[in-house]
Amino acid sequence: MPSILILNGPNLNLLGTREPEIYGAQTLADVEEDARIYATSRGVTLTCAQDNSEGALVSHLHAARGSQDGVIFNAGAYTHTSIALRDAISGIALPVIELHLSNVHARESFRHHSMIAPVCTGVIAGFGAAGYRLAIDAMLGVLERQA
Ligand code: DQA
Repeated sequence: MPSILILNGPNLNLLGTREPEIYGAQTLADVEEDARIYATSRGVTLTCAQDNSEGALVSHLHAARGSQDGVIFNAGAYTHTSIALRDAISGIALPVIELHLSNVHARESFRHHSMIAPVCTGVIAGFGAAGYRLAIDAMLGVLERQA
């Protein structure tokens, strides 16, 4: 059974109340529950984690090495700034899909640049919480091609 980590970064614990016109009305618990149900239907073992601090996210990525087959990663604002997260993604040598709820390219210009995209397998953005289901399917495709 493939195992996938969904890792959410800073401020995503505020989903449901944080700018719902941009990020939707579902809480993080709702989004994770939807993803869990979908993952089970696709035969995936899903683990979910969220942290607001950059170092803890680095540690989650390190822990994924050896325990997960791939990572779906919404790094929040660290996407646009973090060399440490980029190095962690490169270092773990696992497929990582960058994910954003919003279409970052339709927003402020500082959100157009991703520090991590060049070391990720692919990017999903703009589909709201449905993006996590799309990412699970995309990751399964990546893992099948790897096998
Ligand atoms: C986000 C987009 C980022 O620019 C922002 O800082 C977030 C959320 C998204 O899911 O759309 O915190 O990653």
